[in-house]
Amino acid sequence: MKNNKPTILIIIGISGDLSKRKLLPAIGEIAKTGMTPAQFKILGVTRKKEVPLSSLLGDTTNKDYIEKNTEMFQMDLDDIKEYKKLESKIEEMEKDFESKAQCLFYLSVPPATSKSIIEFIGESGLAKREGTKLLLEKPFGTDLNSATELVSHIDKYFEKEQIYRIDHYMAKETAQNIIVFRNGNSLFKRTWNKDFISKIEVTVSEEIGIEGRVGFYEQTGALRDLIQSHLLQLLALTLMELPDEEHLDEVPRLRYEALSKLKIKEGSLMTSAKRGQYKGYREEVGNEKSMTETFASIDLESSDERWQGVEINLTTGKALKDKYTEIKIFYKKGHDHESNELLLRLQPDEGISFSVWAKKPGYEHQVSKHALNFSFKDHYTALPEAYEQVLFNAINGDHSLFSTSEEVIETWRILDELQRAWATSTYDLIIYKKGSIISEIIN
Ligand code: BG6
Repeated sequence: MKNNKPTILIIIGISGDLSKRKLLPAIGEIAKTGMTPAQFKILGVTRKKEVPLSSLLGDTTNKDYIEKNTEMFQMDLDDIKEYKKLESKIEEMEKDFESKAQCLFYLSVPPATSKSIIEFIGESGLAKREGTKLLLEKPFGTDLNSATELVSHIDKYFEKEQIYRIDHYMAKETAQNIIVFRNGNSLFKRTWNKDFISKIEVTVSEEIGIEGRVGFYEQTGALRDLIQSHLLQLLALTLMELPDEEHLDEVPRLRYEALSKLKIKEGSLMTSAKRGQYKGYREEVGNEKSMTETFASIDLESSDERWQGVEINLTTGKALKDKYTEIKIFYKKGHDHESNELLLRLQPDEGISFSVWAKKPGYEHQVSKHALNFSFKDHYTALPEAYEQVLFNAINGDHSLFSTSEEVIETWRILDELQRAWATSTYDLIIYKKGSIISEIIN
């Protein structure tokens, strides 16, 4: 249901790439469906002088709506006094509404700057205005220590309910479908455990490289960029206890519980975790000694009674042959022609497929494996973009698709020992050719 509270979305760092590619197009799409509040404005905050809004509308299909409802605001984000000017601007917009508004502060800025901006929004009193929300992009810290510090820094100024930590993978239509699929199909619901399942793999394979994000990627790497966030969250959705569908607000707690029982597989880190870097990466980033991994694959285990002994693997890499995101569930094998695999395809060609054995037509008894296939595109024209769901839920105060600080800390806890081991060793980095497939890198 839509929230009709007058709303101001304050995008801090509107001149960045994210607004152009994701945020403004997403608002345009929500508005097309009539689901934005009747009184809704965007306040685009930027340090830069004279950024024309038109330069940010490239990917937006609903330009008229965005133009009519957006105002730009230039300020020095490092000067706390300027936040009073920002408050006056908000009050001026509220006058037009003839009502107080809920303000959503969307921080679309590099992680290094977000700390002081959070402090200034807090110190200037803006955080205490009724209905203020804070939307944060990942990464939330770089390791367990920094994430713990960041959480307590934010907690000084904002209450838990005000904070929305975005992991856009959780808002993908097909990630939300994991719960519905598990809940709605008794065959799978009843066999979703170690008695029937032998292995779970979550894979994000990307064709793209680092797309010019040299500074960001050199500091980050595949483990922090994707495994710590998107892959562990998809895994949590797969392993967690199910909420009943009227209580989706329970989901963050259930994801947290699943994460809290995970650790990297016991044994040598060399066998449980592999890292790679595509050929040409070092030249691209201008650092001939770079150890930043563009590929990571880790084996995990869960101490949850339901999952004990089940193999779990997370793998991601850039500059690979194909782009796909999938969760693959391997059912336990019986005799030679008894095995099933369930594939939840998150992108592209979103859908579900299940492999089954069948008799080949003919006089002889021969069998072969086939897929039962469900593809969203055969039934629906277009799936909403994840950022539409993110913004819609934040406007409506629905936290179910956002990570809590407890979850964030758990994900860093899982990776802590490995991060430290990788920071001090150099010998295990696999150099792979661009366009490789995963099995060529790690088998
Ligand atoms: C981002 C990462 O969070 O997700 C990128 O920082 C990655 O490195 C991207 O390419 C993948 O998202 P999607 O939605 O294109 O699969």
